[in-house]
Amino acid sequence: MLTLAPLARAADPVKIGFLVKQAEEPWFQDEWKYAEQAAKDKGFTLVKIGIPNGEKMMAAIDNLAAQKAQGFVICAPDVKLGAAVARAAKRHDLKVISVDDQLLDGAGKAIASIPHMGISGYEIGKQVGLGLLEEIKKRGWNLNEVAALRVAFDQLPTGRERTMGAVDALMAAGLPPANVIAAPQAKTDTENAFNAANIAFTKNPKFKHWVAVGLNDEAVLGAVRAGEGRGIRKDDLIGIGIGGSQTALNEFTKPVATAFFGTVLISPKRHGYETAANMYQWITTNQAPAALTLTSGTLMTRQNQVELRKQLGL
Ligand code: GLA
Repeated sequence: MLTLAPLARAADPVKIGFLVKQAEEPWFQDEWKYAEQAAKDKGFTLVKIGIPNGEKMMAAIDNLAAQKAQGFVICAPDVKLGAAVARAAKRHDLKVISVDDQLLDGAGKAIASIPHMGISGYEIGKQVGLGLLEEIKKRGWNLNEVAALRVAFDQLPTGRERTMGAVDALMAAGLPPANVIAAPQAKTDTENAFNAANIAFTKNPKFKHWVAVGLNDEAVLGAVRAGEGRGIRKDDLIGIGIGGSQTALNEFTKPVATAFFGTVLISPKRHGYETAANMYQWITTNQAPAALTLTSGTLMTRQNQVELRKQLGL
């Protein structure tokens, strides 16, 4: 019998997986696009797989190992799957980096051994709140008559941080805490945000004005669409999302402005290109990326969208 010596890793073609929880969402499409750019620049193969649930996620990791990938970047469908991700990666000797949603261990603590790149959720949430306050001021609204609709997905820590940052900024400026209305969404997409917002609007008819916040643009868009359905339009509702991908751009390019007033633009280029390039470097030079990288954002509206996206190279 022949015993084959293991081939030198450096000689193997590099193959990197990029696994995302919601492949249909523009943000994740953009991340993939920029990860492809890294693959082209560095000369590795990128394997993109949508992982809408835990079962698909586990199958995707097994599949990557079977294809002889050396590592993967992941935004898991549920951060509580962290221990399962870490175990599967170890079993297959795959390197892993998380993006967007930081994975949690069995005790609910962030897994520090998996390098992570995410947005600085609370700070960016505060930017949302400050953007809303500026517009509230321009309109001369009395904060006592304003309700803040918080489309909530609190089981995801970054989701909670983002929306709490926003309402904290509003409350620090004088919004009564009782005017914060949480609308829990079952999933982080527009449809589920729409359903959650609809219930919240129905239950709280007494408010004169509304602002809407959420963990991403889809959450705020759902609130905006629900408002429209109930006659609460851009004169009575100000929505500011987080993201700045196609979901927001579609709203900004409509001939008539909607209540989707703005978004905090974050960088799918950094999250897609850098995480993939970092993984390539880790595989080829054994240099692991920083344990934690938190990226920032900038308020984007109809007015500055073209300029701002250009500045970020988007
Ligand atoms: C989470 C959200 C996405 C997007 C990313 C950005 O994963 O679900 O919509 O906002 O964060 O990091």
